[in-house]
Amino acid sequence: MLGVCYYPEHWPEAWWAKDARRMRELGISFVRIGEFAWSRLEPKRGAFDFGWLDRAMDTLGAAGLKVVLGTPTATPPKWLMDEYPEIAPVDQQGRARGFGSRRHYTFSSEVWWRESARIVEIIAKRYGEHPALDGWQTDNEYGCHDTTQSWGPEDLKAFRRWLRLRYQSTEQLNDAWGNVFWSMEVNSFEDVVLPHLTVTETNPAARLDFWRFQSEQVAAYDKMQCDIIRKHSPGRWITHNFMGFVNDFDHWKVGENLDIASWDSYPIGFVEKFPFSQEEKNRWAETSHPDIAPFHHDLYRGVGRGRFWIMEQQPGPVNWAPWNPVPKPGMVRLWTWEALAHGAEVVSYFRWRQAPFAQEQMHAGLNLPGSDELSVGGREAEIVGREIIETGELPATEQAPVAIVYDYETHWATVIQPQGRDFQYHDLAFRWYEAVRKLGLNVDFVPPGASLDGYKLVLVPSLMMVSDAALQAFSAAQGILLYGPRSGSRTRQFAIPDNLPPGPLAALTGARLTQVSSLRPGIEDAVAGTVSGAAIRWREYVETDGEVLARFGNGDPALTGKGGHHYLACWPDQSLLQQTLTYLAAKAGLETVVLPDHIRLRRRGGVTFAFNYGTEVWSSPAVGKVILGEVNVKPQTVVAWRE
Ligand code: GAL
Repeated sequence: MLGVCYYPEHWPEAWWAKDARRMRELGISFVRIGEFAWSRLEPKRGAFDFGWLDRAMDTLGAAGLKVVLGTPTATPPKWLMDEYPEIAPVDQQGRARGFGSRRHYTFSSEVWWRESARIVEIIAKRYGEHPALDGWQTDNEYGCHDTTQSWGPEDLKAFRRWLRLRYQSTEQLNDAWGNVFWSMEVNSFEDVVLPHLTVTETNPAARLDFWRFQSEQVAAYDKMQCDIIRKHSPGRWITHNFMGFVNDFDHWKVGENLDIASWDSYPIGFVEKFPFSQEEKNRWAETSHPDIAPFHHDLYRGVGRGRFWIMEQQPGPVNWAPWNPVPKPGMVRLWTWEALAHGAEVVSYFRWRQAPFAQEQMHAGLNLPGSDELSVGGREAEIVGREIIETGELPATEQAPVAIVYDYETHWATVIQPQGRDFQYHDLAFRWYEAVRKLGLNVDFVPPGASLDGYKLVLVPSLMMVSDAALQAFSAAQGILLYGPRSGSRTRQFAIPDNLPPGPLAALTGARLTQVSSLRPGIEDAVAGTVSGAAIRWREYVETDGEVLARFGNGDPALTGKGGHHYLACWPDQSLLQQTLTYLAAKAGLETVVLPDHIRLRRRGGVTFAFNYGTEVWSSPAVGKVILGEVNVKPQTVVAWRE
């Protein structure tokens, strides 16, 4: 099904009915509205204007559209910020972040919680049972514009409260953080300061706790909104729209509050945001890299416990990346089908019509600025609208054979203590995902500690802190497992484990680490054996009582195996990674293919999709009934067949 993001408050009321009718004609069933409309709903404290939203909901509903209503908390209005300046977030340099864009609040402010609860309750009561209302979106893109963490007095107050609950006494806090080092000990929780603005680096244990605290606040704030909505809007579902490559808070935790996860897919914008090489950035500039959107589809399907939407789909060039090229013709259609192939229930485009004013005037919509003329992306959406009807219902998405354990704390820990400048967790996880997808395999993402039942191959690109639950899940797993560098290398308190890394994983893997070396760009350490290639960026010195499957140049173990548990003691280059995953997939009994760089497959029940991101026609192995596209897949097109 298709959807669209719409801002009735941006257009004359006389246009609404026609817009709604044209949406239906395009094959659109869902429309998301309201998420930034606070200043129009409550122009002054307590002076509400619901008339326009009542009429907008009625008009959209009358056209047969189902409404997704956003709570407007991403944009607190000016009068509220003037009344309570302490709501404003503070950056890491200690400067208040001002009014005039969005997301200008800190999750730590008690006043902000009260004000959020107030507006959410008023809106949930008024619209919770509106016949056009299908579901809710809480806030908008938590964490966007670096807003998970704030560094002001409100945050300090809340952090001290959080620490007191967690540690009970300063002795325990001092001990947990290792505060004896550099005389950092505190005598009271009031002595604790935020870990910033110091002469040199701050204590990593303090930073990790500060990050955990802020992440927990995001989940609790979201839950507060969800609880209010559920009370006043029975039978409606709730989602939040997550982002691409934002790891600042634990998405698994926020997901627990929701009925459905959703995410905002800007595949081309993300090429700029990801640490690709210049060559890769240029190669994928107008199509996106073939794994960027799928990586997030699979991640958020996991976060939504099987259910996800695309709440915002890029419809053409965006405005916010350093460069914003026009997507190659066909890509808007391809991305839409790709999301559906990965199990998305709805793909909703951002936005209905390009705004000729304000910050996003360079951002495409399905219609040209201020007009009723479809853009290139709008015409592609129209084609998908027809194709969805022609292809009929798709089979349900099944459990994938491969699981990737994805962990937000590992991201935080490696940002706090990179040890090598280019050790970036999301880069590592993405490369593992890319390599396994090149083998034509479906992938699920799971949180650490989730059951691994039914997975033939389990990939743990890195898991720095291994909880009891995670250890139990690994011990119980039946498949083949691969743990990557730095796994088990820190305790929960950010210390080196007594038995040395991989700490809790020592018994399962048989490995014991004595040294790590980070490698400058251009320096590598060759690896040879059952698999070969090289270590780049990061190399560990490991002893093992297991089998050595590949060795570094000096004879040290690089890849080890003990039963089903394998340990990779480096950041692998492309060749080592591809060979390792191919070898382990075979060991796991999985049938694989070797796909060209620009082709990806995705199976949904008995239907297989193939996507061509490249410049040449690819002859697919389609058998059975082709339900979409052509067997010879042209560039920027898709084929799907039912076996
Ligand atoms: C998203 C956001 C939208 C809009 C869009 C532009 O991050 O949720 O409101 O700003 O980006 O690409």
